[in-house]
Amino acid sequence: MKSVDEKASLSEELMESLKAHTAKIAVVGMGYVGLPMAVEFARVGFDVTGLEVDQRRCKSLCKGESYIADLQNSDILEVIHQGSFHPTSDLNTLRDADVILICVPTPLRKSKDPDLTAILSAGEAIAENLHRGQLIILESTTYPGTTEEILLPMFEEKGVRVGEDFFLAFSPERIDPGNPQFSVKNITKLVGGVTRMCTELSATLYEQIVSKVVRVSSARVAEASKLLENTFRSVNIALMNEMSIICKHLDVDVWDVIDAAATKPFGFLPHYPGPGIGGHCIPLDPHYLSWKARLSGYEPRFIALASEINGAMPHHVVDLVSEALNDSGKAIRGSKVVILGAAYKPNVSDFRESPSMEIMEILIHKGAKLSYCDPYVPEVKVGNDILTAVVANECTISEADCVVVITNHRDFDYEMIVRKSPIVVDTRNATRKFADLGKVYFL
Ligand SMILES: NC(=O)c1ccc[n+]([C@@H]2O[C@H](COP(=O)([O-])OP(=O)(O)OC[C@H]3O[C@@H](n4cnc5c(N)ncnc54)[C@H](O)[C@@H]3O)[C@@H](O)[C@H]2O)c1
Repeated sequence: MKSVDEKASLSEELMESLKAHTAKIAVVGMGYVGLPMAVEFARVGFDVTGLEVDQRRCKSLCKGESYIADLQNSDILEVIHQGSFHPTSDLNTLRDADVILICVPTPLRKSKDPDLTAILSAGEAIAENLHRGQLIILESTTYPGTTEEILLPMFEEKGVRVGEDFFLAFSPERIDPGNPQFSVKNITKLVGGVTRMCTELSATLYEQIVSKVVRVSSARVAEASKLLENTFRSVNIALMNEMSIICKHLDVDVWDVIDAAATKPFGFLPHYPGPGIGGHCIPLDPHYLSWKARLSGYEPRFIALASEINGAMPHHVVDLVSEALNDSGKAIRGSKVVILGAAYKPNVSDFRESPSMEIMEILIHKGAKLSYCDPYVPEVKVGNDILTAVVANECTISEADCVVVITNHRDFDYEMIVRKSPIVVDTRNATRKFADLGKVYFL
């Protein structure tokens, strides 16, 4: 039996080391989420190990090379030279850590069920190296209950008790890659621990680098809140996508309608239509919530409907391209179509789940002579074809029969595009200012 003093001294010791920045931190998964977090902790003097199983990523980090647009090589080099950041693929280093953050991917299976493979393998590696006094925080987006139902038993199986021997919490990551206004430091961080002390220790950790930390009542609340945030976006984007189709039928400009509604100072939060949804979060996360709700006997409807509407948008865009070409007496087959943007959102290189991929695949299937421009994405695989990006210059644009704006990267010269292309299909309202200079079809 451990004495009350012994239990208290473990948490006190950890608390002191968090405040003094002497705790050793390991971040598992050096992706869009884990890497910026690791760099931020290393900057303020914590000793941070960045664990990454992808050897290519690990080698890049060791050389001080960033593969994430929001971080420069100099950001990585700074903390490596400072001696506070150590990238490695050696999971045994977890035994040296006082704090472990899990930032691994949480994809979906083909059946749209959660795929927790990466959380499970990270959890196993942590369990193998678990020791008393460690704080473990899951940051990967997942369904309510993952921290307590999956990770907690894996660790307690080792004969240790949460809140006494080790500490466990969930803290959702809200980073928005490519957003210059918000980064790790100024996005409010939610923390929900399995016990009160778990919450307190986790909150103290983040308070060392984040301007505002909010303690919530449980890990489940923290897990569910992240899914609510992303389901909210998915459903509202779907509503605007449907509104854009309704407006087409009614011959009203949906973008004008949204701008007009957004003048209301309360009760309306503008969302915008687009070619579909992409990235690692919005298309996936709501299905984590559905899956868990279904297990408890409730079939969510909003999530399914939003997924259906958003998922149909790439076909709607192709219909618009077909209509636009048809107006000029052309068919998709044989027409030169230039896609602007492969990434799922502006000014980032991430093209996971990007609707651009599906739009390109359908257009190729329909016989278009297709090329794409994206300064952030040099190459993509579309079906069986490998496509290399071309530059969106006057030559490329003026040779096209139709240019389709899928991603509104800031790098594109929209005035030139409208002037030089015979037809523009714009799914992002990016060319609005120049619409009078050419022939633009808006979503
Ligand atoms: N990308 C975003 O904008 C964003 C925003 C908020 C939350 N999230 C969530 O954060 C989590 C991570 O997302 P991401 O975009 O950073 O993913 P990512 O794919 O960019 O990075 C995850 C990294 O983890 C590595 N990895 C996988 N299993 C590992 C293991 N067992 N040990 C060590 N490394 C391992 C992968 O090789 C990869 O480099 C996901 O749950 C995601 O939903 C992502």
